[in-house]
Amino acid sequence: MSYPIVRNRRLRSSQALRNLVRESSISVHDLIYPIFVTHGSGLKEEISSMPGVYHLSLDLLQEELKEVTGLGIQAIMLFGVPEHKDAHGTSAHDHNGIVQLATRKIKELYPELLVIADTCLCQFTDHGHCGVVHVNEKTQRAEILNDPSLELLVKTAVSQAEAGADIIAPSNMMDGFVYAIRQGLDEAGYDQTPIMSYSVKYASAYYGPFREAAHSAPKFGDRKTYQMDPANVREALREAESDVVEGADFLMVKPAMAYMDVIRLLRDQFDLPLVAYNVSGEYSLIKAAALQGWVDEKSIVMETMLGFKRAGADLIITYFAKDIAKWLREGS
Ligand code: PBG
Ligand code: ZN
Repeated sequence: MSYPIVRNRRLRSSQALRNLVRESSISVHDLIYPIFVTHGSGLKEEISSMPGVYHLSLDLLQEELKEVTGLGIQAIMLFGVPEHKDAHGTSAHDHNGIVQLATRKIKELYPELLVIADTCLCQFTDHGHCGVVHVNEKTQRAEILNDPSLELLVKTAVSQAEAGADIIAPSNMMDGFVYAIRQGLDEAGYDQTPIMSYSVKYASAYYGPFREAAHSAPKFGDRKTYQMDPANVREALREAESDVVEGADFLMVKPAMAYMDVIRLLRDQFDLPLVAYNVSGEYSLIKAAALQGWVDEKSIVMETMLGFKRAGADLIITYFAKDIAKWLREGS
């Protein structure tokens, strides 16, 4: 027989053969699960645009963490929803702020569980921006000031490390934030605390549900003067390069689904561990279609995760982490 000469289907003929030649896989160790913590007690409030994701008060954390650790998930990303907001987001670096309280509690209950603290100001500022707002007298325009924002961000990172956070994850996209935080942590004696930088973070509509969840939508304007333009990819190299030079320990691309080319680019250009953030809007899209019965949730989620791994991500922050861990257990 002569034609076809190449028979690619040979390696697809059974599940065992397919397993043998699989190029990418997902492990529970790749997953980081985001948790929203808030003040009060007995509070477990579902976020309406993110079915299955909750605001949790600290007294209910133990139950949640029992499930998370029981599934083998070893890292969580912590987001705080504070009681008080002001112009400078001072509750972000309060010793008894919501993230600090939660971190202490989690490390007490599950010392082995890695707590990654999202380090930003937008949940804590009354204007909802990720930095200090200043009205330029000449132009009468509101600007987000870079260097004064860095000071607050460093204070926040140090107080999170003091509370026991294992990894600091700055997300406010100010220039020089990795270097400033590295110095601040080192001076405070936390030279072994890694920085997971939100290196390449786009100004994205996919954060919509998160902003509802974290009450962190900007009260005026948008984040386009500090987050990146979705049209750009060469700029992503500059953002990642500056983080590497400044001492980041992890790089991140966010969002993930519409930015797989950026994940691949960073994978090829840098050797640091690379994180894909499968953001709130990506979760909501899949969840909504699955609830309608329009797509098969498990298959579509696993395929999406494989996409991130194939593109070159090492780690995935995802609201689906618990479901994925369960599916992996079931051996699918
Ligand atoms: C805070 C922050 C945001 C997200 C993570 N950290 C929101 C934003 O930048 O507006 C988004 C996460 C998600 O959508 O799941 N800066
Ligand atoms: Zn922010």
